[in-house]
Amino acid sequence: MSENVQEKKKVIFSAIQPSGTITLGNYLGALKNWVKLQDDYHCLYAVADLHAITVRQDPKAFRQNILNAYALFMACGIDPEKSPFFIQSHVHTHAELAWVLNCYTQFGELSRMTQFKDKSQKHADNINAGLFTYPSLMAADILLYQADLVPIGIDQKQHLELTRNIAERFNGIYGNTFKIPDGYYAKTGAKVMSLQDPTKKMSKSDENVNAWVGLLDKPETIMKKFKRAVTDSDAEVRVGEGKDGINNLIGIMSAVTGKTPDEITADFAGKGYGDFKTAVGEAVVEEIRPIQERFNDYINNKDYLEAQYRKSAEFALHLSQRTLDKVMKKIGYLPK
Ligand code: TRP
Repeated sequence: MSENVQEKKKVIFSAIQPSGTITLGNYLGALKNWVKLQDDYHCLYAVADLHAITVRQDPKAFRQNILNAYALFMACGIDPEKSPFFIQSHVHTHAELAWVLNCYTQFGELSRMTQFKDKSQKHADNINAGLFTYPSLMAADILLYQADLVPIGIDQKQHLELTRNIAERFNGIYGNTFKIPDGYYAKTGAKVMSLQDPTKKMSKSDENVNAWVGLLDKPETIMKKFKRAVTDSDAEVRVGEGKDGINNLIGIMSAVTGKTPDEITADFAGKGYGDFKTAVGEAVVEEIRPIQERFNDYINNKDYLEAQYRKSAEFALHLSQRTLDKVMKKIGYLPK
């Protein structure tokens, strides 16, 4: 096919914050999907380290977490040769556009963000302005690349809506400048629940470490956490109402093996929860094992990682600068 008849691939942008551990929930809900999308779209991905300082970070641990996140995402299959994968703070256009967008975002809009309300309750001693304007930085991330689609979890949906509103508002004042992005919500494995309270999302901030599985957890630890997973007093491995724990384990099994819940039910007919929990644990361990091996290779090869994130940042800067220049010109800034 010659180039001009080839259908133009859509642009995808997404980012994840570098926190100490990436959970099985992050992997099955987001990362695994990001990896798949690389074949069909022009993807750009980032480690959102600017967003991370809305809570206090210890410098040494923070630096390590950023690098670990980068290496781990690569180990999961993000390929910077295919999809630029950069570190947000390395591309200065993000912070610049965020400032501009702050001036086109209303106090009232930001006040209505449920994440802001939740986080200011959790960190009542540090309700900083960055926490408040977090969504305009996220909007900048997305709009700089004229992204068509943004793979996110439901918890980020409100931020994406705000991004669209900001973009529409700017376009309304200055003429077409930003592409209006749509959310992209994966159909399967999108939500992994806590192993201890399966009505809550799996989260590494859970005080009970048995509630979540980290991608870098040891195989024994993973097995132990699955064996302790909370289930119900029924004994059948099938999806059902009031069976949140089993539903969650079936969801995890399905996301890892690609089998449907019905196939899984058939596989475990006549077997008990104990067998099933062990099988889910083993399937997860097998899925994670090669990721951990690649992670260890990458993290011991810092020069290689550095070469990758530098090259990606250069590319991202070039692309995003075009949008930023357009924005500045439309507002009336003097060209440099
Ligand atoms: N706020 C997102 C989260 O916490 C991370 C993020 C930052 C993001 N910038 C983004 C996600 C841009 C999608 C697009 O999950």
